[in-house]
Amino acid sequence: MSTKKKVILDCDPGHDDAFGIMLAVQHLDVLGITTIGGNCTLENVTRNAIKTLEVLGKADEIGVYAGHSCPMAVPLVTAPNFHGETGLDGPVLPEPTHTAREQHAVDFIVDTVMANDDVTIIATGPLTNVAAALNREPRIAERVSEICVMGGSVTFGNWTPAAEFNIFVDPEAAYRVFNCGAHVKMTGINLTRQCCIGIEHMEEFRKIGTKAANFAADLTDFFIQQDIKEGEPPIACMHDACAVAWIIDPSLIVAAPMHIDVELNGALTRGMTVCDYRHLRGVDPKVDIERDAQMSYRGEEPNAEGALELDFPGFMELLYSTLKNYD
Ligand code: RIB
Ligand code: CA
Repeated sequence: MSTKKKVILDCDPGHDDAFGIMLAVQHLDVLGITTIGGNCTLENVTRNAIKTLEVLGKADEIGVYAGHSCPMAVPLVTAPNFHGETGLDGPVLPEPTHTAREQHAVDFIVDTVMANDDVTIIATGPLTNVAAALNREPRIAERVSEICVMGGSVTFGNWTPAAEFNIFVDPEAAYRVFNCGAHVKMTGINLTRQCCIGIEHMEEFRKIGTKAANFAADLTDFFIQQDIKEGEPPIACMHDACAVAWIIDPSLIVAAPMHIDVELNGALTRGMTVCDYRHLRGVDPKVDIERDAQMSYRGEEPNAEGALELDFPGFMELLYSTLKNYD
């Protein structure tokens, strides 16, 4: 009987999604991986999830379930500028020998949550599958332990000044998830930009020398090259791995309760996660969380936790040890 937390990982691999898979597979009881069009087409992100599991030697035991190919209300926007045409450019991997399971991702999410207690959903791509599952079976909102989202931001965006990519791609889906009544943990870009690895970390992966570590190094190499081409510093942000790490070891992240909603109509702000943490009246929210959390809320009661600060050394210790522990 596994004592590991039961999770469903909904993702759009994606280089940083692949890091999330490497962490989740070793430290959590991954009931299944569901895929969503986002960084790349559904076909490609599904293939990439399978390829990642094959690198880890876990493709026989963990199923991959393809989900929606596009958002609820608007055409799909992808991110080839960061993840390449395949969605996982860089590492040279053989064509996968495994295929996606027959069941649709949304049906898998609903059936799994209804049949198992204490399931956590970790979502590291656009939230279309999760929202569709909530629409199909609203009771999953009260059955899941929590929904941990890599997306949004307590402060600035990345795809637009106000919106982070995963939320921007499908704001209607994000609105449904943040307003479903389940406990939501938001690992926003304000947090994940504290988790950027560089050349020195990539070289450490090479020294570890396992197949997973070399895969991590190849992913990092490509991601850094793309960031440089995009005029960004030579770093690779581990956005999605932060959301997974938060579930593995909650002590790695300082968060605060807050009401989070999603802007759908703003000409400049569509896809923005509007976070009400006015109750955190202290100059330094993370210091005053306990005190401020007792104070009256000016806005609506919190429906989520917004991640504020990452223990980056602790994250890297988790990542290095995980890569070492793969065969
Ligand atoms: O904004 C970062 C997010 O968008 C990450 O999940 C990355 O994989 C992309 O999907
Ligand atoms: Ca992602």
